[in-house]
Amino acid sequence: MGPSRALPCLVLLFLLSSSRASVLEDTCKSFADGNPGVGYDYCIKFFQASKDSATADKRGLAIIASKLTGAAAKSIGKHIQALKASEKDKHIQSGLNDCRDLYSQAVDLLDVAAKGVAAGTPRGKLDAVANLSGALVSPQTCEDGFSELGVKSPLSAEDSEFTKEVSIALVITNSL
Ligand SMILES: *[C@@H]1O[C@H](CO)[C@@H](O)[C@H](O)[C@H]1NC(C)=O
Repeated sequence: MGPSRALPCLVLLFLLSSSRASVLEDTCKSFADGNPGVGYDYCIKFFQASKDSATADKRGLAIIASKLTGAAAKSIGKHIQALKASEKDKHIQSGLNDCRDLYSQAVDLLDVAAKGVAAGTPRGKLDAVANLSGALVSPQTCEDGFSELGVKSPLSAEDSEFTKEVSIALVITNSL
């Protein structure tokens, strides 16, 4: 094969390989356009936790986003248990109890959301959006609980991360 043929082959290979990565890139780009406060880099970094995201289509990315966020809710739940074990302050204990319940509900909501997206039906999408919207409220409700009790939230970092993660899942699911 002479250079005149090799070049179009290379161009084709390049197009094929770049079009794969671009579903993730395009999806994060349009997410970031509407959510500059979270942004493109955060979105890409979020999806890097799942190697399937590199080859997923948009629906696949929406499913991955709900699953990763569900896993995050589980691990925040574990962190809350650990905090509870060593916390002496009654107000903080009470706030932690509420947040534990909220994150445990969020695990279920995100599970329903992932299944709804996977169903690929309009009804499935509606259920997913409703459940993701429910999960989006959890971290704010958790934070509000601590401020109503007049104590500093020991979960502010987790609550803010989780809000960003759910918003990625919600925006992508909404756009399907
Ligand atoms: C989650 O979806 C289910 C349907 O699978 C629905 O019955 C339920 O009301 C939804 N939950 C919320 C909070 O929207």
